[in-house]
Amino acid sequence: MKNILIISSSVRTGRKSPRVATFFKNFIEDKKLGAADIFDLAELGLPLFTERLRYQENPTEEMLLVHDKISSADGVLIITPEYNGGYPASLKNMIDLLTDEWYHKPVAIATVSSGAFGGSQVITSLQFSLWKLHALIAPAMFPVPKVEDMFDESGQPKDKEAVEKRAASFLKELTWLMDANAKMKQ
Ligand SMILES: Cc1cc2nc3c(=O)[nH]c(=O)nc-3n(C[C@H](O)[C@H](O)[C@H](O)COP(=O)(O)O)c2cc1C
Repeated sequence: MKNILIISSSVRTGRKSPRVATFFKNFIEDKKLGAADIFDLAELGLPLFTERLRYQENPTEEMLLVHDKISSADGVLIITPEYNGGYPASLKNMIDLLTDEWYHKPVAIATVSSGAFGGSQVITSLQFSLWKLHALIAPAMFPVPKVEDMFDESGQPKDKEAVEKRAASFLKELTWLMDANAKMKQ
């Protein structure tokens, strides 16, 4: 069974986007699309970037954990909030730590906001950073507008049918890339 790492990137007090991470974990497991693991950057507490991991003489446990998590994932699903049109510093802090670990890594991006546009302005900058690292970006969007109205605290969507339909076609692009990647490695 393939494993999908879900990065929950908001570290904000009172954050709401982890609801979307929980939803995807449950959905992936219920639909047997793979094993899903939530990597919560707030729990991780990664120190602020000083240099890439490959040049660190004494990497911390948290840094090594980031390496292990990304290296061992068959695919990565990033849940990012939109902050002033960009993605949060916590996510940039983590992405820049690694280099080869991102190479040909299938990645899908779900964007979250409390506003009406579902964080759609954040996607291009995040896609571009990951493209620079040679990740394989799934050509699909999953914008979540008004997150508090769409998902409850336990990650249950209010309009289950519509959200699950969208999630299925979004994840299909990620799992396709994961399957294609596995075939290329054979
Ligand atoms: C610093 C900051 C900037 C924000 N900028 C935007 C924005 O540009 N567009 C938007 O729709 N929401 C914006 N929001 C609201 C977030 O979309 C909202 O907090 C949402 O719940 C997702 O982030 P969270 O997981 O941290 O809660 C911003 C929130 C913060 C804290």
